Amino acid sequence: MLTDQFNRNHNYLRISLTDKCNLRCTYCNPVDLPKGYFSNCNKMTADEIDQIASVFIRLGVNKIRLTGGEPLVRKDAKDIIRRLSKYSIEITITTNGVFIHEFLDVFQQAGIKSVNVSLDSLNRSKNKLITGRDEFDIVLQNIQLLLDHGFQVKINTVVMKGINDSEILEFVEWTKNTALQVRFIEFMPFKGNHWMDKDIFSHDEMLHLIASQFEFDTLFNDKHDTARKYKVRGYQGTFAIISTMTKPFCNGCNRMRLTTDGKMKNCLFSQTEVDILSALRRQEDIVPLIKQCIWDKHESLGGQLNNQDLLDDTSKIQNRSMIHIGG
Ligand code: 5AD
Ligand code: SF4
Repeated sequence: MLTDQFNRNHNYLRISLTDKCNLRCTYCNPVDLPKGYFSNCNKMTADEIDQIASVFIRLGVNKIRLTGGEPLVRKDAKDIIRRLSKYSIEITITTNGVFIHEFLDVFQQAGIKSVNVSLDSLNRSKNKLITGRDEFDIVLQNIQLLLDHGFQVKINTVVMKGINDSEILEFVEWTKNTALQVRFIEFMPFKGNHWMDKDIFSHDEMLHLIASQFEFDTLFNDKHDTARKYKVRGYQGTFAIISTMTKPFCNGCNRMRLTTDGKMKNCLFSQTEVDILSALRRQEDIVPLIKQCIWDKHESLGGQLNNQDLLDDTSKIQNRSMIHIGG
């Protein structure tokens, strides 16, 4: 078991397969980093991912989420999914949805049951504005494809004030006849994403707005859940709010991350990283490194985002951009 100083057990590993992406979402992908900053990184090979995953599984991990960048742009993504499917763990994936149709068989063979798809607008031109690419139609088609094939689908919607908060009610209405879960995510600060306090549309603001239009019930939350879940009465789907900024949920955190270049992060907002891949390549035992990394985990938000000075000037935050961490 991977337990930290606050008695939290960690059984959920998120592995970033690549820091490349076919989209350019404004909140994720830094626009103003120097050329050459991108991905000359020393990526974990499929075999190394498998080896590292097997160690985490021995230490108690029973759920792995594949992230990116966009995990499905990686050439050997299918091979990696197949390799991980030999373990008796839950495998899930977070994707922008553009390539899902090419992966349906592999997902099914690997026993993947749930897929998270990012979609920030139900309006085609606004979607293009946010993602920098015009892939709206294929993403909607692929969401339908997943539903038709019995996958559980969660939609990740980053809510940014003045950009897409006007669509919240429309997203909720989508759950009337469609059995998916829309997850509204509070906008979070990362290197290069020009986050400002005033851009947050908070959990309470969202609920207030939704309550003006819908009658909904609060659903049961597991202690590890990051999303507070709700359901409009009589609707097929559900909606949820991930309130990292205004109501953090660090108490029940069970998550660890591995970046594309094999660095372990004990929190999305951790300042430090532990180089697991280099140790593996030197044929050292990586177990003590993993245990120490978890032991050193801060109580909340990587010890950074609860610091108002850093929120006032996010350039002081020590972290990678989201695309380089893995969502
Ligand atoms: N704030 C909130 N959520 C973000 N994501 C990426 N960047 C941010 C941010 N700055 C989410 C996207 C995507 C997932 C990988 O991470 O919704 O679905
Ligand atoms: Fe790509 Fe996802 Fe980042 Fe958008 S949020 S740029 S789809 S990795």
